[in-house]
Amino acid sequence: MLFDPGPKESRADLFGRDEELGEVDRFLKGPSRLLVIYGIRRIGKTSVLKAALNESDIPYCYIDAKGLEGDLSVRRLYGLISRCLGEVGVRFRLEGVLRRVARSLRGVHVFGSGVDFSIDVEWNRVHLTDLLGKISDNVDKFVLAIDEAQWLRLLRGHGKVNMALVLAYVYDNLSNIKVILTGSEVGLLHDFIGFNNPRSPLYGRVMDELTLKPFDRNRSMEFLRLGFRQCGVDVGEDEIAEVVDRLDGVVGWLTYYGYMRAIKGVKPVEIYNEALALIDNELKSLLGRSRYYELILEALARGRSRFSEVRDYVSTRLGRYVQPTEVSRSLNNLVKLGVVRRSSHGVYEVVDPMVKAMFGQQVK
Ligand SMILES: Nc1ncnc2c1ncn2[C@@H]1O[C@H](COP(=O)(O)OP(=O)(O)OP(=O)(O)O)[C@@H](O)[C@H]1O
Ligand SMILES: [Mg+2]
Repeated sequence: MLFDPGPKESRADLFGRDEELGEVDRFLKGPSRLLVIYGIRRIGKTSVLKAALNESDIPYCYIDAKGLEGDLSVRRLYGLISRCLGEVGVRFRLEGVLRRVARSLRGVHVFGSGVDFSIDVEWNRVHLTDLLGKISDNVDKFVLAIDEAQWLRLLRGHGKVNMALVLAYVYDNLSNIKVILTGSEVGLLHDFIGFNNPRSPLYGRVMDELTLKPFDRNRSMEFLRLGFRQCGVDVGEDEIAEVVDRLDGVVGWLTYYGYMRAIKGVKPVEIYNEALALIDNELKSLLGRSRYYELILEALARGRSRFSEVRDYVSTRLGRYVQPTEVSRSLNNLVKLGVVRRSSHGVYEVVDPMVKAMFGQQVK
């Protein structure tokens, strides 16, 4: 069903992304080694990734690096890896392969069999490059898919794992393993990959890229009509048009609206309020980092789109002169985080329609 709130897992549940599925499929079948999927929050990255992987018969290990939030330790990363390898063993019947890997590497242990199969990779004894090397030796093809990969950059530093180095090793040496990364914070993902940094281990590697775009107006309306029809709920064209006016073509928001309206029976006005509350909560830690973030978002949401206009707005709101460099640093950070987009000609805009709505409406 289109309005199911979790990430979609199959093509049948995925609306309007045939082209994108085709691109991932071409990557999986072709010679490229690294694919990066970009897109703002709620645009459907995880859904496209999972549906594409599930459609191919190549064994894959899916790791959601956001699972490191709150515990950026190597131990936690190894926990996520152990879990996904256990799933690989069961799902792709690779138990035999993983047993061989365990026999050849100290610190890798397998338990149980059949649906109870599991694996434990000791974080302080096994190098990921060795682990992936052994897997590569024993399979024809394998995909390592890391969702929200920008989180991996935080694992670096003393006593940590440099995942960019691990991925560069895979890229250079393990031709049976393909890597897919996704990320909503595009600038941070670029930092991790070392896009513009010749000192980064992954710098200069050729990679395929896929950017998920919002649906256009017609497709968004079609999505809502079909979703409501699937739920057997009658919703008028006026309401559908208003939803698209307010939520734009961000499929995650459209799904959220549909789910709340058709399955939970919430009234439209309350749905928007709940969505705003959700955004408020998500942005809390970001806004706590600098007072400028909030004021910049406010300026942009109220139609100041050029840098000088934004800076003047911030100055006025603070009632004092503000150094342009201070504003530009914060603005650039917001661009890095994927919250603000720089369109051509030095014009900035808030990316997410609900974030825009939130800062357009209230003065704190
Ligand atoms: N093409 C699609 N058809 C139907 N529903 C979709 C589609 N793409 C995404 N969704 C729905 O939109 C929501 C967000 O999707 P998903 O989690 O895949 O996006 P995401 O870009 O990974 O988001 P996040 O940045 O939060 O991780 C989910 O409820 C999902 O079911
Ligand atoms: Mg996701």
